Amino acid sequence: MKKILILDFGSQTTQLIARRIREQKVYCEIHPYSTPLDKIKALAPAGIVLSGGPASVYDSDAPLSDPALFTLGLPILGICYGAQLMIQQLGGKVEKAEKREFGKADLSINDTSGIFAGLETSPLHHQVWMSHGDRVEIAPQGFEATATSNHSPFAALRHKEKPFVAVQFHPEVAHTLIGTDILRNFIFGLCDCRPDWTMHSFIESTVAAIRNTVGTSKVICALSGGVDSSVTAALIHRAIGDQLTCIYVNNGLMRIGETEAILRFFKEKTHLKLIDVEATDFFLAELAGVVDPEIKRKRIGLGFIKIFEEEAKKLGEVNYLAQGTLYPDVIESVSFRGEAPIKSHHNVGGLPEIMKLELIEPLRELFKDEVRELGLELGLPEEAIYRQPFPGPGLGIRIMGEVTLSRLEILRQADVIVLEEMKKSGWYRKVWQSFAVLLPIQTVGVMGDGRTYENVIALRAVDSKDAMTADWSKLPYELLGSISSRIINEVRGVNRVVFDISSKPPATIEWE
Ligand code: XMP
Repeated sequence: MKKILILDFGSQTTQLIARRIREQKVYCEIHPYSTPLDKIKALAPAGIVLSGGPASVYDSDAPLSDPALFTLGLPILGICYGAQLMIQQLGGKVEKAEKREFGKADLSINDTSGIFAGLETSPLHHQVWMSHGDRVEIAPQGFEATATSNHSPFAALRHKEKPFVAVQFHPEVAHTLIGTDILRNFIFGLCDCRPDWTMHSFIESTVAAIRNTVGTSKVICALSGGVDSSVTAALIHRAIGDQLTCIYVNNGLMRIGETEAILRFFKEKTHLKLIDVEATDFFLAELAGVVDPEIKRKRIGLGFIKIFEEEAKKLGEVNYLAQGTLYPDVIESVSFRGEAPIKSHHNVGGLPEIMKLELIEPLRELFKDEVRELGLELGLPEEAIYRQPFPGPGLGIRIMGEVTLSRLEILRQADVIVLEEMKKSGWYRKVWQSFAVLLPIQTVGVMGDGRTYENVIALRAVDSKDAMTADWSKLPYELLGSISSRIINEVRGVNRVVFDISSKPPATIEWE
């Protein structure tokens, strides 16, 4: 299977390039711009994309890839900074433009071969997205302009004989309406790839790789009820069957019915070895009297590790711990100007080190939407696949103040109403997350002839792409109304519902 290599120069849209290519069922990987030539050769890509980036090729600390890239005989597509670097390294001239070009621009194509195959030429204009300060002034020898924009005489260039193409604009963003055509022309036309990277082929190759790595050893996996760990377990189980044992710890902080659904699936539809630990009392005892959010999180995290370790010990010798780490967590972010690269993070905090286990992370090449597709292909139930993110510490961090059984009961009932109403109205999949929070105050209300003094539920619903930033969701008034009246009518102990209209930052998605 052929693959595309993306060299990352720090653009915010590098991951988007990868996603757009994978949408075409062509496998690709992102590596730092500084990846040595030997490693690039070993990766054996069918073509290379040089991403955009925030630097100027004239910065003293500009990120430079090895110019010998251009001697490998591979098709190379430079995007924005990547285009300028290609032009400069091959002998052209890049200069600061008088006017920074940012936003939508009109592109006139004067050559409909190569990456513009199948597109209309001038006088028709194509909308593209630009974001650059420098621009190409003189093309290197052998290159010619294939498109222009108002501010760029060389909005796109190509080498007349070699498979090198450069675009000032960003084909990966949705505002570039011909972006998919361009990427398709590059990967299928210039690089001669085939659309053969499907979830079916991914399962086949990953299952073989897991068998090869694990041999006859034992693997454990912490099943949380979330998408990533469920898909990891299903995939590894397909590879090694009974050598995998999953441990599900019920910390008593889950929503109504959700883990039961996942456990039922694994017990009934697969023959997965599953240890199901009921630890509600243990966690509630650990949380008794705790109101500080950080202490809550620590107690829950440490409690999980303790129980997981105890159960794992009973299994005898185990060599591997399976984790549902995803691609965005492992991409080695490029680092220049002293910025710290983002560290890969682990879902099960500290476990591999403490337990001296090797990690297997079969989803580490996948984006979230690909994990969902994989889960469906593996037969996992839709409600598990399209579940909104749910924090490890569960409802524990959605109860402000002390976590007790009776307060958990109130929140669970409110939460299930939010879930039902969101699903019924079709809003569940439109938002990133939607949930109820139990506040630590009581307010006055009136019910029938009597005065009440009861709890407040806050409703939180946010739109987000990656949870790093978020905006409150503009839910319709009717939906807000039905959630509120159902909670107040159906949940004993609640007489008021409020809607959280803060964005992140400065607020966070969760309340603790
Ligand atoms: P915040 O509240 O920081 O949340 O804006 C960002 C995203 O992370 C989820 N979250 C967690 N997930 N363990 C998790 O697995 C945690 O301790 C945790 N805390 C927050 C949160 O639900 C949101 O999607």
